[in-house]
Amino acid sequence: TIHPVLLCGGSGTRLWPLSRKSYPKQFAKLTGDESLYQASALRLSGEGFGAPTVVTASDFRFIVIEQLAALEIPLADILIEPAPKNTAPAVCAAALALEARNPGALMLVAPSDHVIPDGPRFHSAIHAAAPAAMSGQLVTFGIRPDRPETGYGWLELSTPTADFDPAPQPLKNFVEKPDQEKAQALLDGGMHLWNAGIFLFSTTTILEAFAAHAPEVLEITRKAFEASEADLSFTRLEPKAWSELPDISIDYAVMERASNLTVVPYAGSWSDLGDWHSVWREAGADETGTVTAGPSTAIDCENTLLQATSEAQQLVGIGVKDLIAVAMPDAVLVAHKDRAQDVKNAVAALKNKK
Ligand code: GDD
Ligand code: MG
Repeated sequence: TIHPVLLCGGSGTRLWPLSRKSYPKQFAKLTGDESLYQASALRLSGEGFGAPTVVTASDFRFIVIEQLAALEIPLADILIEPAPKNTAPAVCAAALALEARNPGALMLVAPSDHVIPDGPRFHSAIHAAAPAAMSGQLVTFGIRPDRPETGYGWLELSTPTADFDPAPQPLKNFVEKPDQEKAQALLDGGMHLWNAGIFLFSTTTILEAFAAHAPEVLEITRKAFEASEADLSFTRLEPKAWSELPDISIDYAVMERASNLTVVPYAGSWSDLGDWHSVWREAGADETGTVTAGPSTAIDCENTLLQATSEAQQLVGIGVKDLIAVAMPDAVLVAHKDRAQDVKNAVAALKNKK
């Protein structure tokens, strides 16, 4: 059995104003009838999968239950982080909780904000990864890159990515979020895949990796877990210990440092809906490159995203190019399409103004 661990504590600031501190993007219905979080849980349910463990913030504790109850997916555990400390502590806490219930279990760590349309194909990739995970490897999933993306991790293979072979293979090197120049070189070199941000390993393997590469994270997370409090169906990690944790991702804390890494190349469609540019890309623009969502109308626009989110509002674009416009009842974003990454700075600036 594979035990899904869903990470949904991120606040998705690059998708402001749709994604809010109190209701981040993973819970919003961005692309269909289900939220990204619901779609992630559905994708990891059914034969071969145990009930998921969710790691999230206190503010989202009821949303995570409600949205899965609506799909009749039972939860194994809900770990509540007293503060966001990025993905390394979240994964470590989940590993400790799972190890306590089910020693040596295989855990599949998955973000809750990805779009992976081909469920059956994704399942095959996970099942192909299981033997390596059982034999002590940290397994990553690799996506063929098509642009010099600086927001992702890059995985170095021993064979050119042009002969795309879906068999699990040893990973030579893990490079988290390279700068623009480096990303271009990695793309041109043809030996790297993108890290999908999805990991499969046993609780034993990941706890050993924390002990070797990030002992401080392990030690403090263990304290917070051992002193945690059960509250309804929630496990509240102890705030005082938790506050001492560094803010660090699993990629920097463990993956860049470990050597027992395996990659399973995944040829199906995958995307991280991290910013408005990727929403535009995934929505499938018409021949003018225009995407309209909600009650919005584009007249003679090019490479533009117009997204209205309230039925009570009309959003109209005329003759604009390379624009992102998102209207919410209480906030409107107007940005150049190339500046999608900077939305998080706007959110930070707004916070300081208050
Ligand atoms: N519980 C919890 N607590 N979840 C968190 C926290 C936290 O403090 N911080 C982030 N998350 C969740 C996010 O909600 C998201 O689902 C997932 O963890 C990944 O975090 P991101 O912040 O979105 O990471 P990223 O996109 O910058 O980078 C990661 O994913 C890329 C692919 O999407 C890395 O793994 C990259 O190497 C990878 O390429
Ligand atoms: Mg992400």
